[in-house]
Amino acid sequence: MPRKLLVTSALPYANGPTHLGGMTEMVQTDIWVRFQRMRGHQCTYVCADDTHGTPIMLQARSEGISPEQLIERVGAERRRSFGAFLISFDNYYTTHSPENKHYTELVFKALDDAGHITRRKVTQAYDEQAQMFLPDRYVKGTCPRCNTPDQYGDSCEACGATYSPADLKDPLSVLSGTRPVERESEHLFFRLGDFEPMLRKWTRSGTLHEAVANKLDEWFEAGLRDWDVSRDAPYFGFEIPGAPGKYFYVWLDAPIGYMASFANLCARTGMDFDAYWRPGGDTELHHFIGKDILYFHSLFWPATLEGAGFRKPTGVYVHGFLTVNGQKMSKSRGTFITAERYLEHLPPEYFRYFIAAKLGPGVDDIDLNLEEFATRVNAEIVGKLVNIASRCAGFITRSHDGRLAAALPDPALHAAFAAAGEQIASLYEAREYSSVVREVMALADRANQYIDQHKPWLLAKDPARAAEVQAICTQGLNLFRVLMTYLAPVMPAMAERAARFLGESESSWRSVASPLLGTRIAAYEALATRLDLKQVRALVEPAGEPAPAKVAKDETGLVTIDDFARLDLRVARIVSAETVEGADKLLKLTVDAGGESRTVFAGIRQAYQPDTLVGRHVVLLANLKPRKMRFGVSEGMVLAAGPGGSEVFLVTPDPGALPGMKVK
Ligand code: 2FM
Ligand code: ZN
Repeated sequence: MPRKLLVTSALPYANGPTHLGGMTEMVQTDIWVRFQRMRGHQCTYVCADDTHGTPIMLQARSEGISPEQLIERVGAERRRSFGAFLISFDNYYTTHSPENKHYTELVFKALDDAGHITRRKVTQAYDEQAQMFLPDRYVKGTCPRCNTPDQYGDSCEACGATYSPADLKDPLSVLSGTRPVERESEHLFFRLGDFEPMLRKWTRSGTLHEAVANKLDEWFEAGLRDWDVSRDAPYFGFEIPGAPGKYFYVWLDAPIGYMASFANLCARTGMDFDAYWRPGGDTELHHFIGKDILYFHSLFWPATLEGAGFRKPTGVYVHGFLTVNGQKMSKSRGTFITAERYLEHLPPEYFRYFIAAKLGPGVDDIDLNLEEFATRVNAEIVGKLVNIASRCAGFITRSHDGRLAAALPDPALHAAFAAAGEQIASLYEAREYSSVVREVMALADRANQYIDQHKPWLLAKDPARAAEVQAICTQGLNLFRVLMTYLAPVMPAMAERAARFLGESESSWRSVASPLLGTRIAAYEALATRLDLKQVRALVEPAGEPAPAKVAKDETGLVTIDDFARLDLRVARIVSAETVEGADKLLKLTVDAGGESRTVFAGIRQAYQPDTLVGRHVVLLANLKPRKMRFGVSEGMVLAAGPGGSEVFLVTPDPGALPGMKVK
């Protein structure tokens, strides 16, 4: 019986380019989806951009555009990248949509009517200059426990303490650099605790991997607290009906975006929304997510669904993070690889293959080690898999006009390959992709051994043995066909090209058991090419130096607007300022240049007391070549006026300018 599955990947925030970490999740999901479809199931895959919340509102502001313009731009980039990586969405939508507004209001009303929403006042940090309440991450200060400066308002990175922004010593708003005040406001809370018995049962009903379910037990022990689902204006999101100036918290409407994207698809295709979202049907709902958003998907989300009368997920699959050469992806180390950058250097299916080769069903991080990447592509895809076809094809095209033999010389070997299909299918089903790849590569070894043993290249020298050569190569190509079919969910475009080469319209799981005999193949064209390690390393190497600008050398000394545009001038906030041993003119500044931290050694010591600088906004030349100094590397320059010494005056932007904003 074909199953009916609805599958999702987590909705990416619409505030930055797609990077390989995000792509890993899409690839993981897409492999599963393509596998289900190949097995004859009706599998629908939806996703969307997650567009609401404070960071998106502020980023749009800092770019001088509206949030709608920002999400439009990011959405277009995402669709391009996902298309290039062959992610086969049935619908990629946005949470800023009429459908999402409709379902968010509907869910909220149902929860409210059933008594699962309560209202109470909360006191929160408020920035009087920016005129807004500050999310915890927008307040920084000194840790109340260990006194480490420059810690976020929710937790200390040095000692691990968790607290609220009001507990910080010397708190400052990240937005304006001013000291926040406390202000009261009424908020709406979802009573998660109402659902504890259901959640305890649901998390142990096979929906979650055991290790994940164990993690949840810790949360049950800690107690399920009410969840604040409202935010005060200004906020980019949906205003709550009947509560002017209050907005739904982005995390309430984001997962409802799964429903909304599907509803949008239903309107186009006539699929039945209720069959997938109301309880009691024969459909399945599967979510793929990262480990950082488990709480939302394993507690808030099923509880919200249950409380509003919808069905709960069949499965929630949690993966770890992608590291690059063993390190967290980082912009400053150059290991933050965007999808577009990857595509400038390498073919997308190699990434899909590598991710599959590394992915198990657990939550372990996956490392993109660049040498291993090159080795696997060369040794496995090119050296083992494609090699089978390239070794056999020529003999069939040259000497047999492209026609395969009428019978296999070793039908048992082919049958063994076909029989492995069920085991491989169960590995796919259980998301054990690394085992799939291992199995397929072990079979590829056997296929290559078969060719090595029968040496068609030697036999081909004797015209009397032409039929034998044809039979051996027919065997080899049929083994290749089986393996390419097994890997089609991972490398769909390559599988399609392979199918066309073999004279078929597509690779189909069911037909691998019947070999291709007596039919014609097309001329072989390389299905994969070897990688040079240099090509792979280029992913993390800085782009070539920009050509030196031709500064107008006329006697006026004027520069063009293009010369000026080469300077990356940005607003930055001084996070800390320290004196430097042995350098009586310098201060070591750590500045926040919009989510990116820089160290700058500035010759301003005689003009400023270090502690008076903390929180101050300055203008940073952010693309100055890093300079190695005796005390460390200086990664930019802060702009100042004056002759020097004690007469130095830092250039300060007007209030309202935020760290990261471009100065132009
Ligand atoms: O953590 C994130 O990137 C969120 N944008 C994921 C949302 S998933 C779903 F709930 F919408
Ligand atoms: Zn601390």
